[in-house]
Amino acid sequence: MNSSAQPGFLGTVSWDGANATSERVLLRTNIVNRQLVERNQYVRIDEAEGARTGYLARVVAGPFFHRAGTATVGGMTAGGSLDCVLMAELEIQGEIVEGRPRDTNSRPSPGSPIYALGPNEIAGLHGLKGDMLLGHMAGQDELQIFLQSKNKGVLPRNLGIFGTVGSGKSNTSQVVIEEAARAGWAVIILDVEGEYTDMDLPTEDPAMIERLARYGRQPEGLKDFHVFYPASCASDKAGAETFTARLADFETSVIGELLQVTLPERNALLDCVDYLNQKARSKLSTTEKEGLQTLLDASPQAKLPFTLRSLRERASERSSKGNEFLDYAGLTAKLNWIMQSEAFDQLNMPSLDPVRMMVPGRVSIIDVSVANDVVKNMVTADLLRKTFALKITRPSTPPTLLILEEAHSFISRERAQSMQATLTMLRNVTRRGRKRWLSMAFVSQQPGHLPPEIFELCNTRIVHTLRSMHNLEALMTTTGDVGRDLWDRCPLLGPGQAILSSPQMSRSVVLSVRPAACRRKFTD
Ligand SMILES: Nc1ncnc2c1ncn2[C@@H]1O[C@H](COP(=O)(O)OP(=O)(O)O)[C@@H](O)[C@H]1O
Ligand SMILES: [Mg+2]
Repeated sequence: MNSSAQPGFLGTVSWDGANATSERVLLRTNIVNRQLVERNQYVRIDEAEGARTGYLARVVAGPFFHRAGTATVGGMTAGGSLDCVLMAELEIQGEIVEGRPRDTNSRPSPGSPIYALGPNEIAGLHGLKGDMLLGHMAGQDELQIFLQSKNKGVLPRNLGIFGTVGSGKSNTSQVVIEEAARAGWAVIILDVEGEYTDMDLPTEDPAMIERLARYGRQPEGLKDFHVFYPASCASDKAGAETFTARLADFETSVIGELLQVTLPERNALLDCVDYLNQKARSKLSTTEKEGLQTLLDASPQAKLPFTLRSLRERASERSSKGNEFLDYAGLTAKLNWIMQSEAFDQLNMPSLDPVRMMVPGRVSIIDVSVANDVVKNMVTADLLRKTFALKITRPSTPPTLLILEEAHSFISRERAQSMQATLTMLRNVTRRGRKRWLSMAFVSQQPGHLPPEIFELCNTRIVHTLRSMHNLEALMTTTGDVGRDLWDRCPLLGPGQAILSSPQMSRSVVLSVRPAACRRKFTD
């Protein structure tokens, strides 16, 4: 077929001018195509010469209007229409190899035919197809964007959702939760504001309902939905269940860090835990596998080597023997303090139970909205350790996504130095969890305060508007696949818009996130 007769034919590649650059070529076409040539339109250029098959390009400048040839000065042809040539500048996005654009060291030659691409073709070339509907490409309503729930390069390589207050992070989290659950993932959210506890109900926001309809979706609550909260705290949600944190479930180094012990207090802690473990050894199981079983036994009858009470008793017993290397009195004071919080080792109360949470399609909210920082951090550590332990002991558990809201308050750049054990645990869960489909999503309004290695863990990033240079720079230096032109748009993004980059995609795009179908609880 003649190239100009093929559907979507726009024009041809023009000869280069004196200012030609490697990434750009000129489209030359007839004025009758004016409606088809618009900025941001994606096009395919079929190579006229040689072995290469084609290029993906985008209209970045124009349309420009040129008089055709010198003979027509005066402008009008006999027919009365302007004798005009339409030009537009195209940016080469890559060479199309096996249906995907790849980096290229070449350019199409003059005369190569150029075609407009439809939404389906663009989505295919960009890698925007999948089963988790996130929204559409900004400015192109018909071009929907999906993540792939079964692609091990996507959720298993962790997700980051960043943006300033009010930029749309929580709505985006809800969308990710809805879609992951729909695709059979178990989802667990550490809810620091208690805003996710009404997700079993449909959204009531008329504006959101109207936008949702454009995706053919209805307001809808999550079906398999449970809310938990730590002992001593509370949850507004009717039917929410409480759980206690058991000190013996944590690695001693993590307990020390979370309690922010001094070095002598840390030594005293190690000594007391050692003593209690030794004492319990005769009665309790000692192999690693049995240890994991105990960790995963959430019942109040679980056989634990020690509790907060027995640990504090031991520390206080020894407190007269304090010396400069071992500070039992200091440790006792810190244990007293967490004892008062009444969140730990409560009698007759179950502990966090990953077996109940890691069920396909189930969404579990851990409402820590009224917990203090120590309790929040302990609960987070508990969740990480136990979900990982369950994945190890029962590989048949479904893919599981853990969502940490306000991640910067849990692990901050400033505290990273004094939180090595916790970071190591996080690193383990993310690196070793990947193969087991245990994934994390970090949500933060202050990415600049997160330790840089957290970014490296987040291979898929949804970056809403960020206005502080500090936060933007932290992302720019670690997100190689987003170009300068996209970052320049970041401070100007509206609520719900975000830069999306992911290993699934050949190129980052500006995403307009769809509204969540389920309800959010607004708390101010
Ligand atoms: N995808 C979206 N589409 C339309 N409006 C949105 C979208 N996401 C957020 N908004 C609007 O912005 C407000 C703030 O969003 P929210 O998710 O609470 O932001 P954040 O969690 O970043 O503070 C919402 O109440 C809603 O009105
Ligand atoms: Mg929020």
